[in-house]
Amino acid sequence: MTRVRKAVLPVAGFGTRVLPATKTIPKEMLPVFDRPAIQYVVDEALAAGIEHFVFVTGRNKGAIEDYFDTAYELEASLAAKGKGDLLEELASTKPSPGSMSFVRQQAPLGLGHAIWCARDIIGNEPFAILLPDVLVQASPSCLAQMIDVFNETGGNVIAVEQVPADEVNKYGIIDPESRDGNRIRMRGMIEKPSVNQAPSNLAITGRYILQGSVFEYLADQGAGSGGEIQLTDAMARQMGTEDFHAVEYDGQSYDCGSKLGYLRASMAYACAHPTLGIDAQNLINGLARPV
Ligand code: UTP
Repeated sequence: MTRVRKAVLPVAGFGTRVLPATKTIPKEMLPVFDRPAIQYVVDEALAAGIEHFVFVTGRNKGAIEDYFDTAYELEASLAAKGKGDLLEELASTKPSPGSMSFVRQQAPLGLGHAIWCARDIIGNEPFAILLPDVLVQASPSCLAQMIDVFNETGGNVIAVEQVPADEVNKYGIIDPESRDGNRIRMRGMIEKPSVNQAPSNLAITGRYILQGSVFEYLADQGAGSGGEIQLTDAMARQMGTEDFHAVEYDGQSYDCGSKLGYLRASMAYACAHPTLGIDAQNLINGLARPV
């Protein structure tokens, strides 16, 4: 079976729910405690064995490309001052040469269209998609848990988690057929169903392993929910001929795409920091106490 080697990270959206912060700074570059959100997602994928990253970018997203490049002046200045520890930390964020590609989505026509823009670099092999505004704390990483399942089932694998029944209309929701432990064979999926229409409360988390054949469906996928070309709609058609499994992964997700979600993620990652976590927790407790 072909290994999952490549990952697509779509970062071309406008991030309107986090304006004005995202007027000039890409949403993915907003710091979640001490590093940009995108770093956590790249680390998750690296931990799962991903070797090549395809970023689908748009206007005003140049900061992402620069972040993964060498910062000559900064590094020379740190070296001159003998700040080896900081240099080491910067080096740990740098990808190996040639392991990142950047393609432009000229207009944000929807997630499905963004993924389609990566078709030539991915080719006809299974690949991962990680939505960078969703961070997942998990060990092994969420994508690693999915790849474990994929290595047994093949086909297509998506991560899901339970959401409150009255919030299903905010998510892509799966229609489960049968279940074996945390592994669910799927019958269908629907983007943002009404509470009455929803076939389950299992929401798609923003992590996918798909066969390259999805590009054929995306090529002529029309606009769906919200007037956007939806990945869910193309996957629903792909499911007519291919196996789909969902993994109810073990971990905690954070949606950084909204202001309160971003705040929650920042606090959680601060508290999980290896050296500053306890101080961060005390600080948050202090703020929570009535004055
Ligand atoms: P979102 O639905 O969160 O859209 O997209 P958004 O534009 O980033 O944010 P809001 O809704 O305006 O606040 C989920 C992911 O898909 C990417 C986004 O960058 C985000 O990572 N995306 C979405 C694209 O790359 N292109 C698109 O056309 C739409």
